[in-house]
Amino acid sequence: MTRFANQVAFITGAGSGIGRATAIAFAAAGARVMVSDVNDTGGQETVAQIKAAGDEATYVTCNVADPTQIETAIRQTVDTYGRLDIGINNAGIGGKFGRLLDQSPQDFDQMMAVNVGGVFYGMQAQIRQMLAQDNPKDHPAGDYPAGGKIVNVSSIAGVRGMAMGGPYSASKHAVLGLTKTAALEYVRQNIRVNAVCPVYTHSGMVDDLINMAPGIKDKMRRVIPIGRFGQPQEIAQAILWLCSDENAFCNGQAIQLDGGLTAG
Ligand SMILES: NC(=O)c1ccc[n+]([C@@H]2O[C@H](COP(=O)([O-])OP(=O)(O)OC[C@H]3O[C@@H](n4cnc5c(N)ncnc54)[C@H](O)[C@@H]3O)[C@@H](O)[C@H]2O)c1
Repeated sequence: MTRFANQVAFITGAGSGIGRATAIAFAAAGARVMVSDVNDTGGQETVAQIKAAGDEATYVTCNVADPTQIETAIRQTVDTYGRLDIGINNAGIGGKFGRLLDQSPQDFDQMMAVNVGGVFYGMQAQIRQMLAQDNPKDHPAGDYPAGGKIVNVSSIAGVRGMAMGGPYSASKHAVLGLTKTAALEYVRQNIRVNAVCPVYTHSGMVDDLINMAPGIKDKMRRVIPIGRFGQPQEIAQAILWLCSDENAFCNGQAIQLDGGLTAG
């Protein structure tokens, strides 16, 4: 498949779960993919899976809470593949399961540093690069789409409250505020910015939550009208759709991938 041929995608938190599925899907659709994570083993495994399928990817270590590391990772993406067309700010943590009074200042600060800082610094570095490379003189053959596409991974907890997950819910609401703001500020430079808001999706993060509160799995499943958790590949396909050039009128949206939860 060549839907993203000649395009370069950078994905944070791509060492497992939704990020890995998204990296694999972009590579299968023809993109050259920079896989990044703090978990080097997971990130390298994602690259190995992509290469085993005959597609193209490289791994770079990157803690999204550190703006210097994100800048370096974007620079390495451009050094490796020549440009950046797609930024997926997916890395995130679930944090502590507990009511507001059980959350410490450290719990709150860490959540904000990774889930909000990661998206903020990620978009800054990505947009800076997209604007810098967006000179038609650099590609006279017109073989690259100008501008860029960014998708931030929020959550259903970004559009509703989440009992026992106050800092997480606050962080995911903040991701939507940043998404909508960037979408307004850069659309005239042809950079579209959207978000996805998944409900519980099979991944390491959901396994951690289930392990923290045994017995909760069935309860979680029952609240989703479709009657099951999402699959990482289903979230990945929505992210690809948001980045596709056929979808060029979609900007600043928060797409809810929730099996119907917020329809009621
Ligand atoms: N799984 C769900 O049910 C669900 C639902 C809604 C939203 N999300 C969001 O989806 C995103 C991906 O999560 P997932 O479910 O695939 O979980 P996951 O735990 O499988 O993946 C998260 C990845 O982010 C990486 N990461 C954590 N901190 C990082 C940091 N500081 N810098 C760089 N990488 C870091 C982890 O190493 C891991 O590879 C997260 O933002 C999460 O909040 C998940």
